[in-house]
Parts: sequence; C-alpha cells; structure tokens
Amino acid sequence: MSFKLPTKEDKHDYVHDQFERIAKGYDLSNDVISVGMHRAWKLRAINELMGLGLKKVGTSEDSANRTNEKYLDICCGTGDLALAIAKQAAAGTKITGLDFSQNMLDLAGERQKRLARRKDKIKTVQMEWICGDAQQLPFEDNTFNGAIISFGLRNLTDLQKGLDEMTRVVKPGGRVVNLDLGHSTVPLFAPIFDAYFSNVVPVIGGILQNDRQAYKYLPESGRTYPRPEAISEMFKKAGLINVRHIPQALGTVALHVGIKR
Ligand SMILES: C[S@@+](CC[C@H](N)C(=O)[O-])C[C@H]1O[C@@H](n2cnc3c(N)ncnc32)[C@H](O)[C@@H]1O
Repeated sequence: MSFKLPTKEDKHDYVHDQFERIAKGYDLSNDVISVGMHRAWKLRAINELMGLGLKKVGTSEDSANRTNEKYLDICCGTGDLALAIAKQAAAGTKITGLDFSQNMLDLAGERQKRLARRKDKIKTVQMEWICGDAQQLPFEDNTFNGAIISFGLRNLTDLQKGLDEMTRVVKPGGRVVNLDLGHSTVPLFAPIFDAYFSNVVPVIGGILQNDRQAYKYLPESGRTYPRPEAISEMFKKAGLINVRHIPQALGTVALHVGIKR
C-alpha cells in the first residue's frame, strides 16, 4: 500500500506520536541509516552556530572569548546536538534543549548524566531540557546567542513560524542554523540515494525499530521538504541576513545559516 503523508491538520499529532514511539531506538537507527555521518554534519553545524566556520571549536583561545553564552537546540530529540555543544562550550555556557516528545527528552537527560560521569568538562556547562512546541517558544525575545535545529524543521506544521520563532529568541548578531535533508542533483548519485532512502531505509526501520511506517514517513517528508533555495528565502523572510546554504553529503543534506540583524 502506498504511503500518504498526514494532512496539515493531523501533522502535529502524527509527528508527536511517531517520535514518542521510536524514541528508544532512535540513536541507533540514526547511526545506521546515515552510516554515522550525521555526527560530522552536526559538528559542522555547531561550528556555524558559534561563528567558527571550519575552525576548531573549543580551543583555549576561542573559549576565553566566550563567557556566559546561551544556546538553544530546537527539536533536540535525544540531545545529540545540545550535548555536542556542551562538550566544546566554555565554562558557564547555558544550553537549552527543547522538544515536544517527553520520551526523547527523558533519553536526553539520561545521556547527559552518563556523559557527565565520563567528561568533567560538561559539568561546567548548565543544561536544561524543556518540553514545548517549536512553533511557540516559551522564551523572551533576544535571549540566546544562537539557535539551532537539526532534522526537525521538516517535521513542523508551519516551517516559517518555526524559523520566525528561532529568530525572535536569538539576540541581534546571533545565529540561526538549520540542518536538514537536501535535494541532491548530482547525476548518477541522486537516483541511487533516492532508491536507498525510499526502499532500504524503511526496511532498516522495520528491523531496528519494528516501525516501518515511521521510516516511510522519513523519505516522504524529505521529498516534500522545500528545496535549499526556498529555505534560504524563508530565512530572509524571518529577518535573517548573510544567509548561506552549505550543502553536505553531495547535497543530500542542507545546512543553512543566517544572522539576526
Ligand atoms: C528527526 S528528530 C531530530 C532529533 C535531533 N535534533 C537530531 O538531529 O538527532 C526530530 C525531533 O523533532 C521533534 N519535533 C517535531 N515537531 C516538533 C514540534 N512542533 N515542537 C517540538 N519538537 C518537535 C520530535 O519530537 C523529534 O524529537
């Protein structure tokens, strides 16, 4: 039977139920489906969030210039990005992860505790996990030095509202970063990737998570997700300047960065 995406009216509850269901095996599936590459894309995204480009984050020289910064990870899931920021951030940094799936947030909290037992550095960083909707952020205007979302924007009912909200809560001069699926146009590679995503990924999801449906949603949501040029326009509409699209993995992943005026 062919797969149908939820309607706009149903999307919020559909996506919520899906992530509550797959939370437990989410990290393993992520590693398998992306062959571990999502970690490198996320580190690149963090560098953009902190305004470092390709430079290494967390050097002593870099940390010295950062005091009491605040970062927000929207649709944080099991806390991958927020914890990666924490490993590199200067002492005193505050990192907030927000998601609407409590199961995902519980796992993020457990990961944070495990990491703090192994890495002293993250004890110097303040972390909080908040259950909330990305389209209605429970924060004051101009609160954060930067806000990031990875593989989350695609799941929102109103993508523009999500970007508007991220922009609202970031301080002037701060960065908004989005990492999500792209649309590869590389000849030969693009159809191979499409076949992998449409046919192999649901099988992997079926085996690892016993949830083929959720992993049919993944390629479909990618197919209907706007092209990188359209996402850049949405960034500008949100009031961001110096908007850049940085393709990753031959364009299958799109990294967008903008600066709040
Ligand atoms: C594909 S996961 C990405 C998790 C993590 N950012 C990562 O890159 O591994 C998408 C996450 O977005 C969350 N999400 C989707 N829609 C949301 C919304 N409207 N508000 C808050 N969280 C949402 C889901 O619960 C899920 O944890």
